[in-house]
Amino acid sequence: MQRLFQQNRVWATSRELEEPGYFRRLASLQEPKYFWIGCSDSRVPANVIAGLEPGEVFVHRNVANLVNPGDLNCLSVLQFAVDILKVKNVIVCGHYGCAGVKAALDSRRHGLIDHWVHPIRDLARDNARILQCLPGPEEREDRLCELSVIDNVRKVADTPIMQDAWARGADVAVHGCVYGLADGLLRDMNCTINGQAGGQGRDVGDTQRG
Ligand code: CO
Repeated sequence: MQRLFQQNRVWATSRELEEPGYFRRLASLQEPKYFWIGCSDSRVPANVIAGLEPGEVFVHRNVANLVNPGDLNCLSVLQFAVDILKVKNVIVCGHYGCAGVKAALDSRRHGLIDHWVHPIRDLARDNARILQCLPGPEEREDRLCELSVIDNVRKVADTPIMQDAWARGADVAVHGCVYGLADGLLRDMNCTINGQAGGQGRDVGDTQRG
């Protein structure tokens, strides 16, 4: 812990030196344009990989970046982001090599996580034919990771929070992307749902899905 406190003092001092008044400005205002729903994996920090500063992205993370309609934690953060902070972009970001996705694909027991990743297991079953056509387990995991992001973008769009926001004309879109641990790059899943463009968020996303 001592190391963390030391590093924190170095960081805070150098940040303030680079930009005098930085923390005072940051403390007085939170106006992020992005709300990020990502995996808890330590290798996928939203700010760092998206090149954003503190104050620029509001973040919710859980194992395998899942949006569960019964998860009050995730929904509370989503509502705060959309209704209070008025973010313009909600991003569901998965990553290749996700342990949560792997756990959903194998038949071993992992403990509580097996309950949490149940929606991915269902998704794998629904897409069994597509997944079976792929050459190996790694390709299947990667594809399932992408399918899960697309599925969770839809789940975000289907929440009463997003539906109400679009009904009152809010300018907010839901996007899906996948991060590659091996190259540090974000890939757009082209499954953006924007309630504004077509009045019905779902329909627009369905036509854009590639
Ligand atoms: Co993960």
